[in-house]
Amino acid sequence: MFKIAVLVSGNGSNLEALIDACKNDVIKGSIDIVISNNPNAFGIERAKKYSIKCKIIDNKRFQTREEFDQAIVEELNNCDPDLIVLAGFMRILTPVMIHAFKNKIINIHPSLLPKYPGLNTHKSVIENQDSSHGVTIHFVNEVLDGGKIIAQGEISVYSSDTLESLKTRIHAIEHVMLPMVVSKFADGTINTKKVIYEKFK
Ligand code: GAR
Repeated sequence: MFKIAVLVSGNGSNLEALIDACKNDVIKGSIDIVISNNPNAFGIERAKKYSIKCKIIDNKRFQTREEFDQAIVEELNNCDPDLIVLAGFMRILTPVMIHAFKNKIINIHPSLLPKYPGLNTHKSVIENQDSSHGVTIHFVNEVLDGGKIIAQGEISVYSSDTLESLKTRIHAIEHVMLPMVVSKFADGTINTKKVIYEKFK
């Protein structure tokens, strides 16, 4: 069975989309562990509802980012995942984590990378009066939001759009894209050596 680990920091709606896709056999795999750095992440409640193993590793308990990452690595090593999905995980990973799971970590980011790496992407789109916005799923490497792109989805931006309306429409395409991409990892259509760039619109 293809083993998936999901890391979350907050709401966990993308996690829920992955859980649904595993339940419905869209993803031929199982979510073996959900890890959160935030003890209050709603994503943890979502995972518990489905009896998925959860682990809270609070970054505030660690002196350095590297020590925090090492604790995550140790937890992940226990379940030996085939794929690690950052689904709204709001910590920057250090080489400790990236090297331990080289080419096994993917991230979903709410912008059309390389535009707007980092935070507040919806705000940047509105401030710059962009006419399009989107989502990128990419491998994680040492460069923040800079790894190889696996899939992108685009939405139009209207003058009436607000932070909330963009967030809602971005979430809607994320919930389709992320399960689709993870299903392709699980069935072997995508791997590090064979990335099929997908464009959703
Ligand atoms: C998602 O929109 C995801 O793209 C974004 O956080 C949100 C999490 O939503 N990720 C990042 O900003 C990473 N830099 P969720 O908790 O409801 O899945």
